[in-house]
Amino acid sequence: METKINLTEREIPSRWYNITPDLPEQLPPPIHPGTGKPIGPADLSPIFPMELIKQEVSTERWIDIPDDIIEAYKIYRPTPLHRAHRLEKALGTNARIYFKNESVSPAGSHKPNTAIPQAYFNMKEGVKRLSTETGAGQWGSSIALACNIFGLRCTVYMVKVSYEQKPYRKILMQTWGAAVHPSPTNLTQAGKKILSEDPNSQGSLGIAISEAVEDAATHEDTKYSLGSVLNHVLLHQTVIGLETKKQLELAGETPDVVIGCVGGGSNFAGLAFPFVPDKLKGKDIRLIAVEPTACPTLTKGVYTYDFGDTVGLTPLVKMYTLGHTFMPPGIHAGGLRYHGDAPQLCLLVKNKVIEAVAYPQNPVFEAAILFARTEGLIPAPETAHAIRCAIDEAKKNKNNCIVFNYSGHGHFDLAAYDNYLSGKLEDYEYSEEKIKEAIAKIPKFE
Ligand SMILES: Cc1ncc(COP(=O)(O)O)c(C=O)c1O
Repeated sequence: METKINLTEREIPSRWYNITPDLPEQLPPPIHPGTGKPIGPADLSPIFPMELIKQEVSTERWIDIPDDIIEAYKIYRPTPLHRAHRLEKALGTNARIYFKNESVSPAGSHKPNTAIPQAYFNMKEGVKRLSTETGAGQWGSSIALACNIFGLRCTVYMVKVSYEQKPYRKILMQTWGAAVHPSPTNLTQAGKKILSEDPNSQGSLGIAISEAVEDAATHEDTKYSLGSVLNHVLLHQTVIGLETKKQLELAGETPDVVIGCVGGGSNFAGLAFPFVPDKLKGKDIRLIAVEPTACPTLTKGVYTYDFGDTVGLTPLVKMYTLGHTFMPPGIHAGGLRYHGDAPQLCLLVKNKVIEAVAYPQNPVFEAAILFARTEGLIPAPETAHAIRCAIDEAKKNKNNCIVFNYSGHGHFDLAAYDNYLSGKLEDYEYSEEKIKEAIAKIPKFE
């Protein structure tokens, strides 16, 4: 019985899968906040390079991956697909549990899958610096790594709560050559505005996005880079699912359940989207997106147009949202504290192609500990949400083939484990009241 199913470097996908032509209905266009009209490529060009804008709006099902990107992917791809024999045994289940190990990248997560192409296409168009935000620090370290590969400078606005909880991620970014600032900062108008209202603001992904977008928009040689949510990010992440399909084939398996955690939706989409055409053709396969109860976007949000950031600088996109002013509690899965989700993913949830569930932190960490004590690997708190769900699915249906995305390791999250092990971790259920309050602040564009 094999524990790891490996592919050769020649089997790294040569094309990304674009789900746009296979969506059950057309994706509502992003809206310009000033005009109230759909935005076009010209509106995006101050902050993104043209090649990524083309990918963002492409209706081609397959998009070729340039050779230089495949060469850079070879640093860690293909990633192994593991069979979780020891976890299965501990659960006493006949279910077959597999996980795609994206934690083997230098940054420790799936994020370099899109950081590498984003840095590459910017470099090709003469951009000298990228600005970005980071939540848990996983994205910031990935873009720092990618900028270093392709010779770009990199500025990272890191959510303050994570900056303080995770100093080692900051050092990782600096080691790869990036400048890192705790957000909100006094360096941007957006940051200053937040600090004037709340000098003790712990920050959020939405605020950090506002700062990074403003930085790019106000500097000629700089573009912005986003680690999740956008179509082109999800597109790049499909290398995960495309490899997984091949690996499952080698194992003689077809999955019954595919699971991933959701912050903005990129690792989940990366694994699950390549399975969507099979499901749409009638294959009996469940695709489950897992989020925290502290930030229940898909399970309690509303499907409407909202800003991608907190201050209201980005275009409005149609998605499940908790309202762009929503301020999630400082839970340890920092990468899952985002008020919205990827529009493509939201459309598929609305059409019931994808299901969503939410878990509080304590059961999530309980699953992480069981995983660490059976499989040996210590998952990121974000990833542990997918593990919780995989365990529950394996208990419910004991004959299923279950695949989840092991989106990242938790080596820089040991303080969170310490909190859990000493019984200090609090569970948060976001109250309907607070959600209603934040949703009432969403501008009406329909
Ligand atoms: C390890 C890990 N998994 C998952 C996520 C969530 O992001 P996304 O939903 O875009 O995959 C993050 C975000 O920082 C992360 O660091």
